[in-house]
Amino acid sequence: MINLILLGLPGAGKGTASERIVDKYHLTHISTGDMFREAMANKTKVGLEAKSYIDKGNLVPDEVTARLVEERLGQPDIKEGFILDGFPRTTVQAELLEGITKRLNKPLTNVIALEVDEDTLIKRLSARYMCKNCGATYNKISKQPKVEGTCDRCGGHEFYQREDDKPEVVKNRLEVNEKMNAPLKDFYQKKGLLTVINGEQTPEKVFEDIDAVLSNNQ
Ligand code: AP5
Repeated sequence: MINLILLGLPGAGKGTASERIVDKYHLTHISTGDMFREAMANKTKVGLEAKSYIDKGNLVPDEVTARLVEERLGQPDIKEGFILDGFPRTTVQAELLEGITKRLNKPLTNVIALEVDEDTLIKRLSARYMCKNCGATYNKISKQPKVEGTCDRCGGHEFYQREDDKPEVVKNRLEVNEKMNAPLKDFYQKKGLLTVINGEQTPEKVFEDIDAVLSNNQ
């Protein structure tokens, strides 16, 4: 069983690595960012609350986020373990997660932090764009669709840039997340769960390094 947290600043490649991990290990991918974007699109109460934070690059309050994660982790479809992508992001969330994993009897097995320089993060986020239909992620510099203007995953032709990837929001997002990054890594280092991986490498090499860590669990 692998119950994994992927840590990393915005644009570190958590979503990109998650796709490859899911393909190989069949883990359930739980991205709080994706859950909030879905809630915003459906204009639910949580979505409307989250929007006021996300559009400015701020964090959604810890309790709101933790509640969402506990509901998701409690669902019966999680059979072969999970990846938490984007949660926890603060030490308060990390402590709340301790309680959640105990209550649900789903202990963490690994925490992997993807390390990437700020300059690279800014370049990646400003070049990222998404398929409007299925949410697949592309990048003007590093990952174009195989056929120009056509989504590899669903064949869609419409793309958009995330509101929070616009330069004025990215700056605040990075500042907010950078403050939390070191204490969070310390938290899991002390528990003996943390592995740090160089996220500046190609996505293939990043996955190779992650795979080397996870294959030790089996
Ligand atoms: P969320 O959606 O989680 O955003 P994020 O953490 O800012 O991370 P991203 O999705 O932007 O980046 P990523 O690391 O997944 O990178 P990706 O693989 O796409 O959260 C959004 C917002 O929701 C937050 O700002 C906050 O407001 C709220 N929120 C979410 N969780 C919360 C929480 N726990 N508490 C409170 N609020 C919360 O890659 C980026 C780009 O780079 C892509 O274009 C990709 O193709 C490219 N790329 C990836 N890897 C590589 C590589 N190795 N080489 C070259 N290019 C690469």
